[in-house]
Amino acid sequence: MKKILIMAGDGIGPEIVAEAVKVLDVAKARFGLEIETDDALVGGAAYDVHGDPLPEVSLEKARAADAILFGSIGGPKWDQIERDKRPERGLLRLRSSLGLFANLRPAILFPQLADASSLKPEVVSGLDILIVRELTGGIYFGQPRGIREENGERVGFNTDVYSESEIRRIGKVAFELAMARGKRLCSVDKANVLEVTELWKEVITEMAKDYPEVDVSHLYVDNAAMQLVRTPKQFDVLVTGNLFGDILSDQAAMLTGSIGMLPSASLDVNRKGMYEPCHGSAPDIAGQGIANPLATILSLAMLLRYSLDRGDVADAIEKAVEQVLEDGLRTADIYTDGCRKVGTTEMGDAVAAALRG
Ligand code: IPM
Ligand code: MG
Repeated sequence: MKKILIMAGDGIGPEIVAEAVKVLDVAKARFGLEIETDDALVGGAAYDVHGDPLPEVSLEKARAADAILFGSIGGPKWDQIERDKRPERGLLRLRSSLGLFANLRPAILFPQLADASSLKPEVVSGLDILIVRELTGGIYFGQPRGIREENGERVGFNTDVYSESEIRRIGKVAFELAMARGKRLCSVDKANVLEVTELWKEVITEMAKDYPEVDVSHLYVDNAAMQLVRTPKQFDVLVTGNLFGDILSDQAAMLTGSIGMLPSASLDVNRKGMYEPCHGSAPDIAGQGIANPLATILSLAMLLRYSLDRGDVADAIEKAVEQVLEDGLRTADIYTDGCRKVGTTEMGDAVAAALRG
């Protein structure tokens, strides 16, 4: 019996996660999966009840689970509370406490959505890139950090720091994924300005000797951002630090039509993982039943593939999503003329039905 912990979070989180759970139930029945689920509060929802965005009881459940399906956290309601108690800090603490250092963010364009991208269809059609983002280090976690008084004004500061072992650890994941895919790896840095990424580039260059089959390139982050919208198909796997990976993955998401399509996996050294859509809690549309649940459903597929070793079930879910797109169903974010606009629940129902077969 495998244990999946459901952490729906805030904003549209509960709506989109409910659709993924629906799909999981169908998958369990069709494939005879032995999976039990449990829920835990996180983010603002946890703060409201426990005064903490990651209460001990939620962290304990997360540690005990084989995998976590996560919705989204945050919202204007909690923007003004004490910094350490904000929803985002709960997510960061969860990533760091569980050692989820490897964040995989695939940007794949479903052919049916070529017209939904803001880029020309010929620039994005067939797009299949994987961003590997380091998730538990860098400027997100570096000390010292804070806002202090200095000479009668406030000064904000953060520290970008990576040890050689941290770079090697994420580099290994990226090289191995590149070997299993198109054998091209682009490492993104700002080595012309920042020492921490000068080291990043050096370590990745050293590691390249152990992977002679992988064609390795290096880009400065500003150039990488430009290349991603100029000729995105030049990329296979991209590897980068926490902050650059955060930014580039949002950008890559838009190539696929909508950030509502982008799943992610965050893995520890043993491939235990947390799976979440790359988008946020979208407070502006929360509760309206119009959010796109596909990124969360595709995150569930990644969960089955990476943490439960059921690539076959993951394939079936991805095929069901493709089927529904083929049938012309679109949530508002991916809607184009001639398609049928549906809400969150209808989209989830349709994927569940396609999976049931
Ligand atoms: C993401 C999000 C998070 C991040 C936020 C919500 C803390 O933007 O997962 O990309 O910055 O990592
Ligand atoms: Mg982000």
